[in-house]
Amino acid sequence: MQIGIDQLAFYTPNTYLDLVDLANARGEEPDKYRIGIGQSEQAVIPVTQDAVTLAANAAIKVVDQSNRDKIAMVLFGTESGIDNSKSAAIYLKRLLDLPDNIRALEIKQACYGATAGVQFAADYVRLHPDKQVLVIGADIARYGLHTPGEVTQGGGAVAMIISAAPRLLNLDDETAFRSEDIMDFWRPLYRSEALVDGRFSENVYIDFFKAVWLDYQNQTNRTIADFTAFAFHLPFTKMGLKGLRAILPEATETQQERLKANFEASRQYNRQVGNLYTGSLYLSLRSLFDNAALKPGQRIGLFSYGSGAEGEFFSGTISDQFKAQKSRQWFKTFFSNRKRLDVAQYERVFSQTLPQHDVYLDTSYDDARFVLTGVQHDQRQYLDRDQHKVTE
Ligand code: CAA
Repeated sequence: MQIGIDQLAFYTPNTYLDLVDLANARGEEPDKYRIGIGQSEQAVIPVTQDAVTLAANAAIKVVDQSNRDKIAMVLFGTESGIDNSKSAAIYLKRLLDLPDNIRALEIKQACYGATAGVQFAADYVRLHPDKQVLVIGADIARYGLHTPGEVTQGGGAVAMIISAAPRLLNLDDETAFRSEDIMDFWRPLYRSEALVDGRFSENVYIDFFKAVWLDYQNQTNRTIADFTAFAFHLPFTKMGLKGLRAILPEATETQQERLKANFEASRQYNRQVGNLYTGSLYLSLRSLFDNAALKPGQRIGLFSYGSGAEGEFFSGTISDQFKAQKSRQWFKTFFSNRKRLDVAQYERVFSQTLPQHDVYLDTSYDDARFVLTGVQHDQRQYLDRDQHKVTE
């Protein structure tokens, strides 16, 4: 029985910053950002979007009457949680109007949370093949104005349905993972921006990738020749390129050309969105699905990395039911319709954080279906515009 990713949708707000504008404002060479970092644009997240609304706006694309009653769990990977106790999954479950007889919980381990969700979901579906699991990766990547990490900000959400007989990717059973207590990137409870030891974090990412890749090969006897493409966690797209380059010498020249071309396909969307932490690997997978010429049966390798640190290398084969480039046109239209903010506008949006008292937010400039309308009695207020009702 094949288990894997049946649906994979994405959401990010309709405002962005062009990184040439940011480079000019910060006195950096635009090519440092475009080539050295590998980013062209980054999503700018308004205060009316949080991890819950980002997730709801993505998830509504993969949940409908055909699968609503099959969903047994909502596993919400995030490091941008809105509450120290209550999980974002519970809010999401209500916004999506899912039935009550489900499990809904949040998973945190930096950018690795969604991958934990995918693996736990796959294990569950192996035992309960008539059920589905909704897995979310939703985050807002914030380092701060005028910091080295600023160029690697972004945000958004992916929503995936894990099921039997999946229409996108059949997950292989073998997987290699590793965890170690490392201070490369962290965010204490009192901070809204991450702390990071930038260059160190890049080195740990590569070390973890090499270690789990070796472990995976030892487990499976597969080699780089068995892979059509790799998708990486992309905090910025050059990071994935560095990962790929670390193993490319294991491939023949022809294989290298194919892997490099497919890597370009896998980073197109991330280049325009920036880091979305735990969803980044899966946005890259979506980009690969839409922009590479993939065929059923071809094997894809996936590297997930969450600072702090947890890494996992796993794989899957393209499903027989795979429909190539399904959402490519949607992304094209979406990116060309986004509103470009200048640096002053971006800085204003970035600096607008949710106050710790009752507030009504102006949502008129946010075109999302699900929005955060404010806070009342320390409770976030959400609006589903299609239902025209305030949920609390
Ligand atoms: N043209 C082309 N390239 C240029 C250039 C130019 N004019 N000027 C500089 N560059 C290149 C540099 O040579 C360098 O390339 P290499 O990395 O290949 O050496 C690259 O641009 C970046 O330059 P710097 O290293 O000088 O950049 P920086 O010191 O300003 O910081 C950074 C870069 C460390 C990535 C910083 O943006 C950062 O801290 N980002 C956040 C941390 C991060 O994303 N870490 C990734 C691993 S952790 C993780 O994956 C989890 C997660 O999501 C956070």
